[in-house]
Amino acid sequence: MDEIAVVTGAGGGIGSAVALMIHDKSEGALKLALCDINKNALAELAGRIPGSFPVVSDITTEAGRKALVDAVLAKGTPSVLVNNAGIDRPHEPCLAILESSYDTLLNLNLKAPAFLMRAFCKEMMAAGGGAVVNISSVLAKHALTGSALYRVSKAGLEALTKQFAAEFGPRGVRVNAVAPGFIMTPMTANIPDETKEKIRSMIALGEFGTPEAVAEAVWHLVENQYINGVVLPVDGGMVL
Ligand SMILES: NC(=O)c1ccc[n+]([C@@H]2O[C@H](COP(=O)([O-])OP(=O)(O)OC[C@H]3O[C@@H](n4cnc5c(N)ncnc54)[C@H](OP(=O)(O)O)[C@@H]3O)[C@@H](O)[C@H]2O)c1
Repeated sequence: MDEIAVVTGAGGGIGSAVALMIHDKSEGALKLALCDINKNALAELAGRIPGSFPVVSDITTEAGRKALVDAVLAKGTPSVLVNNAGIDRPHEPCLAILESSYDTLLNLNLKAPAFLMRAFCKEMMAAGGGAVVNISSVLAKHALTGSALYRVSKAGLEALTKQFAAEFGPRGVRVNAVAPGFIMTPMTANIPDETKEKIRSMIALGEFGTPEAVAEAVWHLVENQYINGVVLPVDGGMVL
């Protein structure tokens, strides 16, 4: 049976870089399960990664998560899970937060990773081990007007990372997170220039990050067998 690396949100900026990095660094030994809700982006990426397979699925639903798990188990044994799919909208100041926004942000950024970890880690433990990397954000620990619910979702994801690391480490599954700063992807493409410049001034290195920089950190956490339960910032030294 093939060993499989599952990447959610693989059609997006960071997800596609992570999938390509895992394929390159593992020299094809890990087959990529590419999951996204965006069918076209996924088809394009799958065409660039030999041996990969796309799973078009909405992982905010139980049925969507089950479809992903079933598709992976039909192909092989999961040994890597990258919980990358996420959204940062709507942006709402605290007094304007809507209950519907809570569901939108928390269902994708927190609930989906929680239940995908539960499902895939069970399989990894049965197979003798594996690695999970969750994609958090610098905003888990810092305030930015309009980002309250996003922040909560990522802070929750970091807490889940440490909890799963504590419970599953003894059974061979390591669980870590990467916390990107401002990365140039479709998520950040439409931020007004004035806001971008304010954010740039908060970064010690004075530059925005690339999806490849995040992907390299993800691979490091997949590969290093003695790192468990960490949150690794990849932010150029933002809000130090
Ligand atoms: N970019 C940054 O500066 C930054 C900073 C810190 C953390 N992050 C985190 O990094 C991760 C990736 O961000 P990104 O910048 O690469 O975003 P992105 O380019 O927008 O990619 C996100 C991908 O997830 C997909 N997706 C949305 N809803 C989904 C669902 N219900 N089920 C499955 N897939 C779904 C999106 O599809 P659609 O295109 O159809 O919506 C998109 O392809 C996120 O967790 C984000 O919070 C990003």
